[in-house]
Amino acid sequence: MSSLDIQRIREDFPILKREVNGKPLVYLDNGATTQKPKVVIDAIMNYYTDMNSNVHRGVHYLSQIATDAFEVTRRKVQDFIHAKHDYEVIITKGTTESINLLAHCYGRAFIQEGDEVIISAMEHHSNIVPWQMVCEEKGAKLQVIPMKETGELDMDAYKKLLGPKTKIVSVNYVSNALGTINPVKEIIALAHAQGVPVMLDAAQAVQHIKIDVQALDVDFLAFSGHKMYGPTGVGVLYGKEEWLNKMPPYQGGGDMIKDVTFEKTTYNELPFKFEAGTPNIEAGIALNAAIDYIEELGLDNIKAYEDELLAYATEKLSTVEGIKFIGTAKEKSSVISFVVEGTHPYDIGVILDKLGIAVRTGHHCAQPIMEQFQIPGTVRASLAVYNTKEEIDALVAGVKRATAMLV
Ligand SMILES: Cc1ncc(COP(=O)(O)O)c(C=O)c1O
Repeated sequence: MSSLDIQRIREDFPILKREVNGKPLVYLDNGATTQKPKVVIDAIMNYYTDMNSNVHRGVHYLSQIATDAFEVTRRKVQDFIHAKHDYEVIITKGTTESINLLAHCYGRAFIQEGDEVIISAMEHHSNIVPWQMVCEEKGAKLQVIPMKETGELDMDAYKKLLGPKTKIVSVNYVSNALGTINPVKEIIALAHAQGVPVMLDAAQAVQHIKIDVQALDVDFLAFSGHKMYGPTGVGVLYGKEEWLNKMPPYQGGGDMIKDVTFEKTTYNELPFKFEAGTPNIEAGIALNAAIDYIEELGLDNIKAYEDELLAYATEKLSTVEGIKFIGTAKEKSSVISFVVEGTHPYDIGVILDKLGIAVRTGHHCAQPIMEQFQIPGTVRASLAVYNTKEEIDALVAGVKRATAMLV
């Protein structure tokens, strides 16, 4: 039994009271984005009503309190992922920008013709395309760790791919399409044994699993605020100081400079070197409230409850005739992807929507996974801490109703 009072937690999320198509909302699209608790919504409101001004540049009072609030978030993130220094936390727009920043800057500094970059067969497009772009530009090769039928990585193949040409390994911690939790500690240790740094796409991990970047010894970590009960438009790239210092800046502009003349510009120190221009200030400030919210509930409690819900959902959905789960790894987190024989995922999604149930259908920005399983897409239910067993029952009843109509 969970130690969390889920009914009380639901009270924190105003949107969960609304109806969709005349039915109570059952929100099971948390992998795409989570709903926001009132404390996060209030933090955004509070910024605009009480302190709106630009950060890092004004001597006036409002600018100083906005800057302080923004920088509190940086330190909160530092504690949350247990980074050694607050300046190793770069504030970005989200995971996509974090990975693009890294691919671009790391690529410029370290990747040359003939080098290799390793990703995996289960990446989100945002951890494929930026590396593909760098490889094309530099004449480097993208190597892909294959995936087994279960949706687990083939670690023997990974060991064979690692070699003197490998310049970086970039893989997801948890797959958004399959829910697989990858053996990241082992992935990192194997890469480090060859002197190769590792970046983890933790977009689907930070809201479910406690992450300690120093214990993992990971070199880079990316995630988004909006998938962890925070606002859209803010995310993080963590990087070890020694790597960040060796990389050139990403974008040029205000804040990332020390001195500018037409002849030469000197760059600001970390983290500002990588943060050109005005950030999404209200989102940055409100991310602090989201992390507080998660920490009050406790990530261990959240994970235990979500695991219980995942097991319940898997068992109940197994009673749907013709169902096939896509992604059956031993270690899974909060995602159930499936297809039902004789139906298209899209049609199931549309019927569920009529019943007030929000799921995602399609390729989940991971087309190569769908290609491997030879399916057009899946129906994906992704869980958050406010979901209940009653909502899972509604999902199962909805899928049964949809299949009865479609098959
Ligand atoms: C594993 C993974 N990586 C990256 C992303 C991209 O995140 P964002 O769209 O917030 O930049 C997502 C979003 O679904 C994801 O699930």
